[in-house]
Amino acid sequence: MKQSGELISMLTAYDYTMARLLDSAGVDILLVGDSAANVMAGHSTTLPITLDQMIYHGASVVRGVRRAFVVVDMPFGSYQVSAQQALSSAIRIMKETGCDALKLEGGSPELIDTVRQLTTVGIPVVGHLGLTPQSVHQLGGYRLQGRDSAQASAIQSQAEALERAGCCALVLEKVPARLAAMIAQQLSIPVIGIGAGADVDGQVLVSQDMLGMEESFSPKFLRRFGAVGAAIRQATSDYIAAVKERSFPTIDESY
Ligand code: KIV
Repeated sequence: MKQSGELISMLTAYDYTMARLLDSAGVDILLVGDSAANVMAGHSTTLPITLDQMIYHGASVVRGVRRAFVVVDMPFGSYQVSAQQALSSAIRIMKETGCDALKLEGGSPELIDTVRQLTTVGIPVVGHLGLTPQSVHQLGGYRLQGRDSAQASAIQSQAEALERAGCCALVLEKVPARLAAMIAQQLSIPVIGIGAGADVDGQVLVSQDMLGMEESFSPKFLRRFGAVGAAIRQATSDYIAAVKERSFPTIDESY
């Protein structure tokens, strides 16, 4: 798709029903993000989600997909201890979910080594640079990354190293649009942006944010393409009213 200039659409999914809907609408990539920790479980960071929980979400999504490419996030603590640990976590996710690729955050020399070992045994890996939420405490919050030239060139060289280590794609989160465009031009693998401007090879958003199900989260990069939260609230209050006034169920809705 990158070679032919077709932009890539990517969205998160954590469950079977949503995966079926997004897949049938034609999304190219479904990401079983560790943002499930926030969106599904209400945590304030992605750190608490476990390998078993990611496998549960991943397998549920894969069962709902007919055509999209499914990427599962490796959760915090499942790949940072050693390449050996990363390999055994990765093999579990691939075997138990049936997904197509895994995503890991970061660009340290140790992480690049781990990526190389995973790709060497045949596991497709998506990299993730810029704002890497698993390092939120070290980054000091969810702020724009790569603002000064030292940070920008570090991200750029890490991106090149991830491509050399065999990554099949790269997610760039919350970096200046100019930096993202430069990296997308330099790499031959697709660069998927979130808060990284328009001049990359595709875009990813958290589905619940894109659908307008979470009204309290309003970063500059987010566009809501629906008002699903309001629709759910309206349908629910219509249901409650119908139950209370005994207009549901009717005779036709009874056995
Ligand atoms: O976990 C996630 O949802 C992600 C995307 C925001 C890229 O990593």
